[in-house]
This record gives sequence, structure tokens and C-alpha cells, in this order.
Amino acid sequence: MNIVITGASRGIGLEITKIALKAGHNVLALARHPEESELAHLQKEFKTLTFEEIDLNDPQAHLKVSGLVKYSCIDLLINNAGIYEQDDSIENFQKSYLINAIQPLFLTRALLTKLKNSSNPKAAYISSMMGSIADNTSGGSYSYRSSKTALNMLIKSLSVDEPWLTCLLLHPGWVKTRMGGENAPIMPEDSARGLFEVMINSSLEDTASFQDFLGSNLPW
Ligand SMILES: NC(=O)c1ccc[n+]([C@@H]2O[C@H](COP(=O)([O-])OP(=O)(O)OC[C@H]3O[C@@H](n4cnc5c(N)ncnc54)[C@H](OP(=O)(O)O)[C@@H]3O)[C@@H](O)[C@H]2O)c1
Repeated sequence: MNIVITGASRGIGLEITKIALKAGHNVLALARHPEESELAHLQKEFKTLTFEEIDLNDPQAHLKVSGLVKYSCIDLLINNAGIYEQDDSIENFQKSYLINAIQPLFLTRALLTKLKNSSNPKAAYISSMMGSIADNTSGGSYSYRSSKTALNMLIKSLSVDEPWLTCLLLHPGWVKTRMGGENAPIMPEDSARGLFEVMINSSLEDTASFQDFLGSNLPW
């Protein structure tokens, strides 16, 4: 498979990248500073890995990406990059919405032609249970929560408009990464393994589902 993934420099994205490479897939990893990340070391081991520099806080990023992808077909696009801002300032709201919700939609749109060239095209979006309205009993985290809720709605619409594309909204669990923090019970490699399995085992029937990394359906 040809796979394109965002936020591949660390955390869950890096672990998904490693799993995909070990399984023999071609991976184009997108990151802000790929040369300074573990991706640079990984590339010495895997000739199937390429990476490109992209900052999703740049509103033009999706336009740049379409020019950077050299694959004629994309089988799996993984929108993983995300931010959690503690301070719910207007500026952080804008940044969170752009990176967590708007760019995944525009990135997918920019790559639709290449996804269409695949016989089984899929787009996965790393969402969060914190975006679930039904599950919100603790409040707070306004910009993060609502940006993930927006992501879920945008991708639901996309799945209706592009019925040939398997769109998956996935919650990785509470994962020990820079975002998840030290107290998180799930290791990034375990979450990534589960997420990748859900992506591989999914079919068009699963489009617009909201599942966790173990494949359980979640409340919206
Ligand atoms: N960890 C959890 O418990 C948890 C729970 C639910 C959902 N999630 C979701 O899982 C996804 C991955 O999170 P994680 O836990 O692996 O967090 P992480 O370790 O903080 O990694 C975040 C990734 O996003 C990238 N990123 C941030 N801002 C970017 C930008 N402007 N342009 C391009 N890339 C950018 C980072 O790249 P840099 O290295 O360049 O900063 C990094 O690769 C996110 O969407 C997050 O919301 C995580």
C-alpha cells in the first residue's frame, strides 16, 4: 500500500509509521521538522520511507501537500497530527480548528484524485473521545473538544459526498505521548498497532464510523 501520514515525527504517528514500514508498505511521512526527528534515522533502515516538511498551521499547507506526493495512487491517508492547547484563547481556538479539523478535510480534498486511483481507498482521522458530545460529563477543554467534534462532523459530510472513500474517525485511547502525558495508561506502540489494524480491516461499510483503537464503536 501507499500510505501518507501527518504528524509522523513523534507519538502515535511515529509508531503507526514504524508499523506500516515493518509491514512492507510505502510511507510518505509529513512532519514540521522531519530531519530533526526519528524519521531521519528510520529512513536509513527503510528505503520505502520518504518524508516531507509541512506545517499544518499554514493555511496553504494542503495545497503544498498535493505537489509533494509523488505516488500516483494513495491507498491510505492518515490524518494524525493534532494539538491540545490548555489556554482557550481566540488564537488557540483558531489554531486548533485549523490543525485538528480544517486541514484534515482540505488535505483529503487535495488528494482525492490520488485516492481515487486506489482500488480500496481509505482515509483515517485520529479524533478523540473528547470530541464526543454524548461522553462529555467533565466539561472544559473547549478548543480541543470542539475542534475534534468539528472534525467528526466534517468527515461525516465528506463520507456522504465521497461514498467511494472509506472514512474512519478513530480514538487512540489515552496514550502516553507528549499530548497524553506521563499518567496515560496506553503505550503509543499499542495504540498504533490497534489503530493500524482497524484501518487495515475496515471496508466501505465502516465509513463514517467512530471507533476506538480496539475497534469498538463510540458514542457521538
Ligand atoms: N495522546 C492521547 O491520549 C490522545 C487521545 C486522544 C486523541 N489523540 C490524538 O492523537 C493524535 C496524535 O497525538 P499524540 O498523542 O501522538 O500527540 P503528540 O505526541 O503531541 O504528537 C502530535 C503530532 O502532531 C504534530 N503537529 C503538531 N502541530 C503540527 C503542525 N502545526 N503541523 C504539522 N504537524 C503538527 C506534531 O509534530 P511536531 O513534532 O512537529 O510538533 C506531532 O507529530 C492527535 O490528533 C491527538 O489529538 C491523542
